[in-house]
Amino acid sequence: MTLRTILIHPDPRLKKKAASLSQVTSEIKRLADDMLETMYAAPGIGLAAPQIGVMSRLFVMDCVKEEGATPRPMVLLNPETVWSSEDTNTYEEGCLSIPEQYGDVERPKTVEMRWLGLDGELHQERFQGLWATCAQHELDHLNGKLFIDYLKPLRRQLITRKMQKLKREQARS
Ligand code: NI
Repeated sequence: MTLRTILIHPDPRLKKKAASLSQVTSEIKRLADDMLETMYAAPGIGLAAPQIGVMSRLFVMDCVKEEGATPRPMVLLNPETVWSSEDTNTYEEGCLSIPEQYGDVERPKTVEMRWLGLDGELHQERFQGLWATCAQHELDHLNGKLFIDYLKPLRRQLITRKMQKLKREQARS
């Protein structure tokens, strides 16, 4: 497995729609392994392929947070929302592509998603709580949308300027 470099906003690849996957290949399985390793190492609870510069519809997540609990690494290919609740939930979100910046985002509280698994089968599951927030945040990445797009324009601009500064500093060191 290889740790991949996570792109930092602003980056044109984070604003693009990713392409559907037609089949599960060994290359995709390797990519998913790398993404999980990169996510756990960050550490984070979700990572979408465009965040490492791969423009395919695939994300990984594991929202098990309790110390000592069994991890539940999930890989979702071509995910789609088939149902979402009218009830909403507001959660203070962050993103590995926007380090150390957080903002409240309101989303449906419960969502049902359907996706292709690495086993080649279609899966369908209802997500709640942090899992629901995370799954929607990651699916947004596949459509070129970031959590800051839900914030007020001034707040979004402030965060973007901070990230531009961070990237300039990283480029110098
Ligand atoms: Ni993110």
